[in-house]
Amino acid sequence: MKPSNLKTKIFLDSGDPKETREALALLGFLDGQTTNPSLVAKNPEAVGKKFSAAEVLNFYEGVVKEVSSLIPQGSVSVEVYADKDTSCEEMLDQAKNFYAWIPNAHIKYPTVTEGLKAAEISVKDGMRVNMTLVFNQAQAAAVYAATRSSKKGDVFLSPFVGRLDDRGENGMDFIANTIKMYQPGDGHVEVLVASVRSIDHFVKSIELGADIITSPLKILKQWAELGMPVTSKQQTADSNQLRPIPYEELDLNRPWQEYNIQHELTDKGIEKFASDWNGLIDKSK
Ligand code: E4P
Repeated sequence: MKPSNLKTKIFLDSGDPKETREALALLGFLDGQTTNPSLVAKNPEAVGKKFSAAEVLNFYEGVVKEVSSLIPQGSVSVEVYADKDTSCEEMLDQAKNFYAWIPNAHIKYPTVTEGLKAAEISVKDGMRVNMTLVFNQAQAAAVYAATRSSKKGDVFLSPFVGRLDDRGENGMDFIANTIKMYQPGDGHVEVLVASVRSIDHFVKSIELGADIITSPLKILKQWAELGMPVTSKQQTADSNQLRPIPYEELDLNRPWQEYNIQHELTDKGIEKFASDWNGLIDKSK
């Protein structure tokens, strides 16, 4: 059962509907699920297989539809294929297709110029979005600015805590900084903590007041075993080795095009998602 004092929504980070079932059985609730090309490639039914380009999309559609049917009240994030050359128009075409798959989709766009253009158009057209591969406050400010016309619940921002930790920066500082920066805003962007690697990330995100956490099943299991704590008293934090990320004063009221959104990890992330997706495809098929 969901703890009564838990305000943060809990999502599963997975490309496998079997894990959705397990998470539901384990927690007794699930507020949503996020998928991405790498997670779909890890689905046991995809591992070792080669698809045609059409077949792989059918496979993704099947996964997303099954997940959606298991959590009809929740949100399911479906990510567009993008590499460094993918245009806004190409992303929008995919988004429209994905949006017709299920009634509870959020479309994931990478937080680069073309992705932000696509997000701006999408929210104006009434589509829900989840801006992914977010690694700094300028990107978070740009997402806020590009989606200004939308209502709470329609826009998620996915800051990647674990990938910052991986390179020695304290990813949780970035979560705290983003929440602080959004504080004086109108609340239309929900902070969805992504790239969660530990129970410590998970519980600290609740303590910081994150709107949503998406977590691998393994960490949901640890959280359930600990009795679903909402404070970190029961954990021992070890982020001392990580470099602090200082807060930046940024004005949320600028046009999104004015923020410097380039980030090396966003570019690397796009490359990895594209290569995992392309790894599923046999071009001769
Ligand atoms: C979810 O939306 C993200 O794509 C995911 O959490 C990334 O996690 P990773 O950094 O462990 O790949």
